[in-house]
Amino acid sequence: MMSYLPEPHGGKLIQVYEPTKDLTPVQKELQIDSISLSDLEGIGVGLFSPLTGFLGKDDYESVVRTMRLKDGTVWSIPITLPVSSAYAATLTQGEQIELVHNRQTYGVITVSEWFTPDLKKEALEVYKTDDPAHPGVKRLYERGPVYLAGEVVLVKHPEKGVFEDVWLKPNETRALFNEKGWKTVVGFQTRNPIHRAHEYIQKAALETVDGLFVNPLVGETKSDDISADIRLKSYRVLLDNYYPKERVQLGVYPAAMRYAGPREAIFHAIARKNFGCTHFIVGRDHAGVGDYYGTYDAQHIFSEFTEEELGIKPLFFEHSFYCNKCEGMASDKTCPHGKEDRVILSGTKVRQMLRAGELPPSTFSRKEVVSVLIEGMRQESIL
Ligand code: ADX
Repeated sequence: MMSYLPEPHGGKLIQVYEPTKDLTPVQKELQIDSISLSDLEGIGVGLFSPLTGFLGKDDYESVVRTMRLKDGTVWSIPITLPVSSAYAATLTQGEQIELVHNRQTYGVITVSEWFTPDLKKEALEVYKTDDPAHPGVKRLYERGPVYLAGEVVLVKHPEKGVFEDVWLKPNETRALFNEKGWKTVVGFQTRNPIHRAHEYIQKAALETVDGLFVNPLVGETKSDDISADIRLKSYRVLLDNYYPKERVQLGVYPAAMRYAGPREAIFHAIARKNFGCTHFIVGRDHAGVGDYYGTYDAQHIFSEFTEEELGIKPLFFEHSFYCNKCEGMASDKTCPHGKEDRVILSGTKVRQMLRAGELPPSTFSRKEVVSVLIEGMRQESIL
């Protein structure tokens, strides 16, 4: 079948899944956290192509400093496997280690090297701050202090639970997009419920391409983000009621959120290219948190790379909102009215409203979505 989809990053879709691998010769175990588990799966299914393992020292330092692997391939977020100093003291080069989470073996790493990273430098370069209050930096400091590097094999997929039917691996999304005859597909990343502004920019993008891939992140997020299970329900109800089935595909992105703003936008775009997307939406403060990044920094960073080396086209959107005077969705670019006419609510404000039993207006979020969020929060007794 003719495919118009972009080549995977680096030219080849990495797939290192070996469920029948004989583990008897592997003598040692390493307990990994849920972030490393999602990274392992990301490598295993080719979401992080061209990576075939956790980064070695040269690649790591190159990524931190230059946003490229040492062979020049664009790569903006270091994918590393942190271990304790005590564990590092037991390592031998070339040995194989089972990667274990909650008493289950998910993969095997062949140790190539281990090294002590300069975490402060990583924080300042990747997150643009070393403030431990930044959730990505906090995690970075908590997880160190030694990085273990080596090629991996995925032997078992983490359970997907309620996401089972919407977990499509890059080889599956590519086949699906081709089957649908989509020549152009726009990917949409989100860690939030889809509100009217998200819907507006998705549909504006869809006006110019063949398909929309709604690809919410369901890996680890910070504790006050709305849980992925509740979000999934809200995506399903929204798509069922307001999106054309033949032009929209829902699929989850199992990676952890880094909150690295601009650098993470590049990383998100590359992963979506590996899924087969030709375009990627970057709106306001993409992957940002607090006031660490400028509203459009995650768009500006794309100008540091050529379109050829990225291989996926970013679609930029201004801050969007409902305007009472325009009587419709609009943005700074299209709306001449003032603040007082615009319905703008922060995520924190929305959560506060929901907790207080106050409904965000339907100009901010569809009523079906609000109902799911309220019900979900009640069940998780956050209310
Ligand atoms: S993110 O951390 O996953 O980027 P979020 O789920 O809020 O957070 O955003 C998903 C995408 O929608 C990002 O590209 C973001 O820039 C964009 N976005 C979110 N809200 C708006 C808005 N009001 N106007 C324009 N773009 C937005």
